[in-house]
Amino acid sequence: MRLFFALWPDDAVRAELARWSRELHALCGGRTTLPENLHVTLAFLGGVEDARVADVERAAGEVAPRAASLVLDQPGYWKHNRIAWAGASVVSAEIEGLVSGLRGALARSRIHFDAKPFVSHVTLLRDAREPKAMPALTPIEWRLDGFALVRSVSPQQGSRYEILRSWPA
Ligand code: 2AM
Repeated sequence: MRLFFALWPDDAVRAELARWSRELHALCGGRTTLPENLHVTLAFLGGVEDARVADVERAAGEVAPRAASLVLDQPGYWKHNRIAWAGASVVSAEIEGLVSGLRGALARSRIHFDAKPFVSHVTLLRDAREPKAMPALTPIEWRLDGFALVRSVSPQQGSRYEILRSWPA
């Protein structure tokens, strides 16, 4: 199954992200991420055999997440993949520690993941046009209370994400 670890927003943060998404969509067009799919990826594992999922969960259990906050204050756009996103200009030591702790635990358990450096962002639009200028948007304060292991299910169209398990702070 296709798996990744993520920060998963609560309803209030999700609603604010959806508002950013609507504002950016008015400027950039593209396909909006379904509100229920909005997240920050911490580590992307890709396809994992069913028999290895318990090892993935055991590795995640070695990590002790700490309560932290993430301020999303920066809308951004990547030309190379035409993605518009919500980002954080400052990433706290707690979040950096969570990412390195999680990735370290996965590596020790020989669980493969995409080693691209962590870039704190929420994908809001795909196939978006580059805006002339980024709008000023009200920062979103996100109180993090743990992390989740998420499964990506791809029926006929689009992906749906399903939380398999979460680890509270
Ligand atoms: P994103 O973080 O830019 O949105 C599920 O596919 C999630 O994992 C998405 O959030 C996706 O991109 C992220 N992701 C990170 N690395 C990936 C990779 N190598 N392939 C697919 N998705 C990846």
